[in-house]
Amino acid sequence: MKIAIAADHGGFALKSEIIDCYKQKGIELVDLGTYNADTCDYPLIADKLADYIVDKKAEVGILICGSGIGVSIAANRHKGIRAALLYNEQVAALAREHNDANVAVFGARTQSKDEVFKYLEIFLSTPFSEGERHIRRIAELG
Ligand code: RB5
Repeated sequence: MKIAIAADHGGFALKSEIIDCYKQKGIELVDLGTYNADTCDYPLIADKLADYIVDKKAEVGILICGSGIGVSIAANRHKGIRAALLYNEQVAALAREHNDANVAVFGARTQSKDEVFKYLEIFLSTPFSEGERHIRRIAELG
């Protein structure tokens, strides 16, 4: 599974930690920026990652900003993107099981590193349920 990651300045440090952690596990994440802590605009970051997923260059994305809200709003404007702000373990699983979410979102200023790593592991290891009602509802998103 190819995974891409992007963050604004608010999430830059956390992005680096996630990339390093997964590298140690032998998993190379595609880093779509931002590449330093200088201030930047979260819509542009989210758009870049969303395009990457929609173009099928990666199956899953990770987006981070200060609160997780800005990148969620921006990413979910893209047809085919289902970005979920993961704020507990149950939601991390449900986002995959029920929503077939393809982007995991985190708030670097609102969540601890431990929480983020735990929810990300759950998200990445949980399959979509393939339930008929869930398939129908996702199709209804357009
Ligand atoms: C940047 O200061 C901050 O506004 C951004 O990271 C994000 O939280 C927006 O929703």
